[in-house]
Amino acid sequence: MNNVDKLHLQFKKDLSKSTSTSDLDNLHIKYLGRKGLINKLLQSIYKLRPEEKKELGKKVNELKTSINQLIGVRRQEVLKKAKSTSYVDMTLPGKQYPKGSLHLVSYAIEEISKIFQKIGFIRMTYPEVEWEYFSFDALNMPPGHPARDDFETFFIDYSPKNLKYGKMILSPHTSSGQVREMLRVKKPPIRMINIAKCYRPNWDTTHTPMFHQFEGLCIDENINITHLKGTIDYFAKEFFGENREIRLRPAHFQFTEPSFEPDITCGVCLGKGVINERKCRVCKSGWLELAGAGMVHPNVLSAGGIDPEKYTGWAFGFGIERVTMMKEGIMLDDMRILYDNDIRFLSQF
Ligand code: PHE
Repeated sequence: MNNVDKLHLQFKKDLSKSTSTSDLDNLHIKYLGRKGLINKLLQSIYKLRPEEKKELGKKVNELKTSINQLIGVRRQEVLKKAKSTSYVDMTLPGKQYPKGSLHLVSYAIEEISKIFQKIGFIRMTYPEVEWEYFSFDALNMPPGHPARDDFETFFIDYSPKNLKYGKMILSPHTSSGQVREMLRVKKPPIRMINIAKCYRPNWDTTHTPMFHQFEGLCIDENINITHLKGTIDYFAKEFFGENREIRLRPAHFQFTEPSFEPDITCGVCLGKGVINERKCRVCKSGWLELAGAGMVHPNVLSAGGIDPEKYTGWAFGFGIERVTMMKEGIMLDDMRILYDNDIRFLSQF
């Protein structure tokens, strides 16, 4: 057996004992390194005759290539085996998980809560499944009163009818929380901000069957319209910006007297009603309607067990989706997009 074959045999033995990448690194150095066995063998060739030199040189080179290949193959096997057991490549970059965010309406609820918290209002939530009584009767709308029709209502078919409270409904407005709050607190002062889901069967660019309202209620001695106007003005400036103004327009609600519909100056034309000598397309008049408000009707105070001779109060109810749509920089033209669950829209906020 010549020296090349001997070396080949020795290598095969060594290779069979190599089980890790570092074993293989050492093997590489031992055979193919600068002072390795292959080079040693080549050095001995110089002493041979030219023909022998040529033949042996060829064989050594073949062995060199083969050793290189065999080490490479074994390296792959070792790595694959390690990966399938417990191999962790700590150098790989971590996985990027998509980040979620709150829904636009949730952001608005947080913001509105904070704005009213700053002036001492307590955040409340009253039932979504409510008695007719708190949504209508207690609000000066006895059974059969036509004003009930203004609040198109979902009735719960299978609920038993209560003698005092009537049928169960999905609350069509947060005003149902007014008398509930009076009964809870018992004695004024009351400063409540009731934020809850409301339901009415409408579906168009400015209505969804489920929506949110926030209801302000303030009852104490000597409360008057200026406090109502001041509070709405404060809210408008905090929520929409310092440059917005409000006004109270006369309106009618059974549970407030007098009643108003507060308007706010349009955020696009800033109350002018015109942009570049053309009618503003968003508001047409310079004003946008915010919602309903007024001084709490004496009958409502009485239903809440509060003496209307001693106390007065105001209330307002605004739609959260509505005020969100009107915010500068958002200006949605179709409210339904809020509930389409389209991630391309929602992930912008
Ligand atoms: N509840 C009324 C509505 O949903 C709004 C309102 C609230 C009006 C409080 C007056 C006072 O339309």
